[in-house]
Amino acid sequence: MKRIVLFASGSGSNVENIVQYFQDNSEVTVAAVFTNKSDAKVLDRCKTLKISALYFNRTSFYDTDCLLDILKGMKPDLIVLAGFLWKIPEKLVQSFPNKIVNIHPALLPKYGGKGMYGMNVHNAVKANNEQETGITIHFVNENYDEGAIIKQEKTQIAPEDSADDIAKKIHELEYKHFPKVIDQILHG
Ligand code: GAR
Repeated sequence: MKRIVLFASGSGSNVENIVQYFQDNSEVTVAAVFTNKSDAKVLDRCKTLKISALYFNRTSFYDTDCLLDILKGMKPDLIVLAGFLWKIPEKLVQSFPNKIVNIHPALLPKYGGKGMYGMNVHNAVKANNEQETGITIHFVNENYDEGAIIKQEKTQIAPEDSADDIAKKIHELEYKHFPKVIDQILHG
């Protein structure tokens, strides 16, 4: 059985989609969801989905080995950042080489880096009158949004699309492609 651990900071609609995708899969299981926000909606979703969830704070993430030790003990085949907004500490990247993947809601290297997450990205894309945007699924390395790209998918933006419309289009792409890419990585 391959084990996935998910990290999320907010709503967790990608978490829900990934959990549902693997629900009836006898070879892959979502072992747990980790969040850095104690009131994140993803925690409600985990309750409904009957998935173990664990909240951690900044100190345990950056200043102790607490979370690292828990993760090592879980022996995950893949750690998936599904809307997780904190930078991953170096010790975690080094402990799980090529085993951490992130989804970014834009076509990296455009609209990446610190502060570029969620609606900030879509607002910037809209402000620049971009005609297309998309998603990037990539490995996580020591630098924010700079790890090797695994897959990018594009979507067109109509002039009348609002930043919310763009967000919707991006979420649709994420729901369609992210679980499949995770599946492919797990099976080499
Ligand atoms: C997703 O669109 C994801 O790409 C983005 O946060 C959203 C989370 O939505 N991630 C980032 O911006 C990372 N830099 P969700 O909580 O509904 O899955």
